[in-house]
Amino acid sequence: MVAVHAFDTFLAERRISVRLDEPLGPYTTMKVGGPADYFVEPHSAEELAAAIEAARDCNLPVRLLGSGANLLIRDEGVRGVVVRLTHLNRRDGLHVEAGYNFAKLVKETAAEGLGGLECLAGIPAQVGGAVRMNAGGRHGETADAVKYVDVLSPDGALRRLKKNQVGFRYRGTNLGDAVVLAVGFDLRPAEGIRERYEEVLGQKKSTQPLGTHNAGCMFKNPPGGHAGRIIDECGLKGLRVGSAHVSEKHANFIENDGGATAADILGLVERIQARVPQPLELEVLVW
Ligand code: EPU
Repeated sequence: MVAVHAFDTFLAERRISVRLDEPLGPYTTMKVGGPADYFVEPHSAEELAAAIEAARDCNLPVRLLGSGANLLIRDEGVRGVVVRLTHLNRRDGLHVEAGYNFAKLVKETAAEGLGGLECLAGIPAQVGGAVRMNAGGRHGETADAVKYVDVLSPDGALRRLKKNQVGFRYRGTNLGDAVVLAVGFDLRPAEGIRERYEEVLGQKKSTQPLGTHNAGCMFKNPPGGHAGRIIDECGLKGLRVGSAHVSEKHANFIENDGGATAADILGLVERIQARVPQPLELEVLVW
């Protein structure tokens, strides 16, 4: 407890505001889960670095929360520190800070006639989260449009990584404990970008349960297959545990009807995994 007290004191001394026992459900699209012991929204890279250093000195784990669109928080919540880059949200041309709304960026750049991100229309994320997990879909992935990534390294140094130093792969990177601060995008003026954006967004709206409480696709697509199709072919649409059910619109989505707990959702995940003929790995992060 001494160490925990020191974390509070350290942040207070630097006038970095911290909230205690902050419920995290409202910060996620699934809308479930318990509180974080400490919730910090730094106003600068320096404040972020100071908070991370203080947490390390106090032996508190640190987690970065983005838009919470690919995340399930357990009912007991998370111990240690949760950081959200809400205030690092500026866009200067194609240099965009990590807390910037990714769907907004995709929409804006398409409206500007810049090609490269239009195939990612409608992905709910912050820029930092989209890059860290290399968000994408059948038309492309975030990595395709990245030029460089500015990070706060675990040793406290600020570094600019070229695209080939980020280690992009299917729904992942090699960024480890480095925190994405900003991203430089490589976008070029091109014809038909707005139209393509509208087309991709329309497809997404017609095949996915947008507007309900869900965390996007629950499972990664296995090599050569589609988790949604596999779950659907097992007849599992509508399968329910408590207030969570497999979406009728897209079987790789689990929807929270309103009162679902994380235990409901994880229980449903287990039931799906037990019924499909091949292993399905979670795409959604569980904290
Ligand atoms: N399908 C079914 N039943 C279903 C759902 C899908 O038979 O209930 C079939 C479709 O008819 C289609 C195939 O499965 O033939 C693939 O479906 P879809 O086009 O929806 O693509 P997906 O592989 O299921 C991927 C991404 C999505 C992304 C879409 C569109 C993954 C795990 N999923 O879905 O990403 O939006 O492509 O680009 O990579 C996410 O990552 O959270 C996510 C939603």
